[in-house]
Amino acid sequence: QAGWPGLIEAYRAYLPVTDSTPVVTLHEGNTPLIPLESIAQQIGRGVRVYAKFDGLNPTGSFKDRGMTMAISKAKEAGAQAVVCASTGNTSAAAAAYARRAGMRAFVIIPDGYVALGKLAQALMYGAEVIAIEDNFDVCMEIVRALSERYPVTLVNSVNPYRLEGQKTAAFEVVDELGDAPDWLFIPVGNAGNISAYWMGFCQYRQYGRCDRLPRMMGFQAAGSAPLLNNCPVAEPQTVATAIRIGNPANWERAIAVRDASQGAFDAVTDEDILHAYRLLGAEGVFCEPASATSVAGLLKVQARVPDEATVVCVLTGNGLKDPQSAIDHSKATLKKGITPNLESVAAALGF
Ligand code: F0G
Repeated sequence: QAGWPGLIEAYRAYLPVTDSTPVVTLHEGNTPLIPLESIAQQIGRGVRVYAKFDGLNPTGSFKDRGMTMAISKAKEAGAQAVVCASTGNTSAAAAAYARRAGMRAFVIIPDGYVALGKLAQALMYGAEVIAIEDNFDVCMEIVRALSERYPVTLVNSVNPYRLEGQKTAAFEVVDELGDAPDWLFIPVGNAGNISAYWMGFCQYRQYGRCDRLPRMMGFQAAGSAPLLNNCPVAEPQTVATAIRIGNPANWERAIAVRDASQGAFDAVTDEDILHAYRLLGAEGVFCEPASATSVAGLLKVQARVPDEATVVCVLTGNGLKDPQSAIDHSKATLKKGITPNLESVAAALGF
C-alpha cells in the first residue's frame, strides 16, 4: 500500500488487533509536530516547543485515533450500532467511522454547547443525534445506562480500545523527536487522552523505543476544573466547550498518570485560553479553543520549565470546527463598506 496506511497498520505490533480484525480506517494519524518558534522565543532559555497538531486528522480531532480502534473492534465483535455522549468531537469521529463500517451511530450532546462544525459533521456523516437540555456529564450517564440495557456499543473513552488507539500519538511524538519530550502539556476534559498518551510513552519505553518519560501536565478550564479542585463541578462553564466537563469518566486513571509522571493538574482562565488561541493563530496554527488550553498552560507555568527542555503541547482539534469562536475572539477587524476601487482599498489598508 502506498503512503500512510492509518495508525492500526502503522502500529499493529503495539495494538490489540489480529488478522481477523476488520480495519476501519480513514488513514488517521501521522499528524505533524510543528515547532512553535515565537512561543519558544517568548519563553527563551533554549526551551524547545512543539505542537502535536492532531486537529489534522480526517475528522479534525484526535478522536479519530481512538475511533479507528473502537469501531474496528466493535465490528469484529459483530456490533451493529454504537453510542456516545459528546461535546462534539467524539460524535463527529464516532459517526464517521461507524457509518463507514455500516453501523448506526447514536450521539447524545448537550444542547447549545457543541460547536457548529462538529454538529455539521455528525449530521453529514449520518449520525442519529439527540440534543439534551443538560450538560455533558448527564449525557454520559445516559449513554452508559443505554449501552448496558440495549444492543449498542459505548465508544466514549471508557471503551478501552479508544485509549489503545489514542496512545499512538505518543508513539509518533517519540518517533519524530527520537525520545519522549521532557514535558507534555495537554487539555483535559474526560481525561481519556492524558491517560492514552501516558500509556503510549510507557509502552514505548518498555519496548526500548525511548529513554525518558515526560512530566504530564494536564490543563482544564478554570470554570470546569474538577481534577484540580479534586471535586466534581456541577455546572461547568468555559468558552472551550469541548472540555466543558464537570465529572471526568477517567478520573482515577488521570490521577494515577499525574502521580506516576510527577506531573500536575492545573487550570487556566478563559482569557488565558483565548490569548493562547490567538498566539497560535498568529503562528499559522488554527486550533479550537479547548486545544489552546495546552499552550495557555505552558505559558502559565513556563518559569518551572527547565532551560533547554523539550516541550510538546497537544493541539487536540482543528480551529475550523468552531468558526464562531474565531470570529468572536480574534482581534482582527473586518472592514466593510469600502468603496470598490483602488484608492479606497489602498487607503483602507493604510498605504
Ligand atoms: N480537546 C478537544 C478538542 C476535545 O474535543 C476533548 C474532548 C478534549 C480536548 C479532552 O480530551 O476528554 O480525553 O480529556 N472531547 C470529548 C468529546 C469530551 O465529546 O468530543 P479528554
